[in-house]
Amino acid sequence: MHLPDLEVAKKRGQSANIYIDLKEDYTAKFKDKKYFLRTYGCQMNVHDSEALRNYLETLGFQNTENLEEANVIVLNTCAIRENAKDKVIGFLGKCKYLKKNRDDVKIVLAGCMSEQPDVVKEIMTNHQYVDIIIGTHNIQDLPKLLLKEFSKQVVEVYSNSDEVIENMHYKRDSKISAWVNIMYGCDKFCTYCIVPYTRGRERSRKLESIVNEVKELKKQGYKEVTLLGQNVNAYGKDINETFSHLLECVAKTNIERIRFVTSHPWNFTDEMIEVIAKYKNIMPYIHLPIQSGSNKILKKMNRRYTKEEYLELFRKMKAKIPGVAITTDIIVGFPGETEADFLETLEVVKKCEYDGAYTFIFSKREGTPAAKMPDDTPLSVKEERLQRLNELVNFYSNKNNQKLLNREVEVLILGDSEKDSKKVFGYTDTMKLVNVDGPKSIIGKIVKVKITEAKSFSLDGEYVEDIVNV
Ligand code: SAH
Ligand code: SF4
Ligand code: F3S
Repeated sequence: MHLPDLEVAKKRGQSANIYIDLKEDYTAKFKDKKYFLRTYGCQMNVHDSEALRNYLETLGFQNTENLEEANVIVLNTCAIRENAKDKVIGFLGKCKYLKKNRDDVKIVLAGCMSEQPDVVKEIMTNHQYVDIIIGTHNIQDLPKLLLKEFSKQVVEVYSNSDEVIENMHYKRDSKISAWVNIMYGCDKFCTYCIVPYTRGRERSRKLESIVNEVKELKKQGYKEVTLLGQNVNAYGKDINETFSHLLECVAKTNIERIRFVTSHPWNFTDEMIEVIAKYKNIMPYIHLPIQSGSNKILKKMNRRYTKEEYLELFRKMKAKIPGVAITTDIIVGFPGETEADFLETLEVVKKCEYDGAYTFIFSKREGTPAAKMPDDTPLSVKEERLQRLNELVNFYSNKNNQKLLNREVEVLILGDSEKDSKKVFGYTDTMKLVNVDGPKSIIGKIVKVKITEAKSFSLDGEYVEDIVNV
């Protein structure tokens, strides 16, 4: 495990005094101290939390799941929808109560909420008991902030997001499947979305260091990597590279399973489809958010594709990638969405028969263009649309899952099943969750499983045999 080094500090033009001397051993200071870390939001945040964990444990803190005994509470927050923020504010209430009786607790607000000026203002005004507010571009600053004594709330949020730090270290949650950042930020500026404001502009990691990271993970025994970016198609634009080339290079490391999220339907090239189809270790699963089936709404969302273009891409993927499963994201109740627009969305769902979909009611995000668009659809109508949409989505995910009944599929077993501790769980190549009746010794292996029951959101199965690669 490592702490961020002075080189990074120098590169960022920061004064060295806020950085710590790596030669000194700080573990004594925090030896018997504990940290509690809660993560909200997307895979990006889950992975950032693995970096935060590394910093905390390197300093000597031990993990606790019990809030009451924590000396440091870190909330890695999400700002994508209002309810994400509400959850954090609710949790902060608990933390405030805890601090009433103890003066040795520090509360840290990290993640995307820290990058929203209105939220930071609110925390500074109404939640003074939060000790540290740290941004998404400078989580490396956490150790030094914890080491220093401050008499009042510290806000350390860097607006500069041009840099790409290559040598991040993580305390990974899994020893089987690993997240690998390939790029940071997003430039797409979909009109409803806060991410370009909280994560900054798109910047890619060097191809070579990504490939080296995957090789290293393989050496450590990892079976799967998931390449992470808000829009992986945009990988390499800033460094004269392409995502298809990166995918091919990662495939050639021979790591057993490769996944990637998220792909924007815009600029999903034929080369990408070809590479996915060509390599057996690139999983036949694509998350392809459509957001709406109405061209009028897609335009207002600034999604850069039409319904027809999306359907053509979808058709191509299904035709060229054997057995590919495709899932999507859909927003209902975007400003100006009429019943007719919504029916177009339902039509697309019927055409695509998605394997799954994440569905949301539009949430107004301060500072985004959509927040200023007139929105006169009552919430009750939006809720009713969401319900109708979910029924259709569940129908098709169930239909797709039923096709697997009594069939044998390959599953990477990741750990104990949450539903039944006697069972284990894993995912098919098409990213379907399977609870498996089988010995614990198959955890970490790709095994053959016979599907015995198929539901909308998961499958049940029985272990058949190990897969032996020849
Ligand atoms: N980069 C990904 C999406 C990241 S956010 C992509 O473009 O595909 C995940 C999902 O949250 C989005 O696909 C969208 O469906 C939803 N979302 C984003 N902003 C939202 C908002 N303001 N209200 C409701 N849903 C939103
Ligand atoms: Fe948000 Fe659009 Fe970027 Fe996805 S592509 S993160 S929805 S702005
Ligand atoms: Fe949320 Fe930030 Fe991810 S807003 S969805 S945690 S990029």
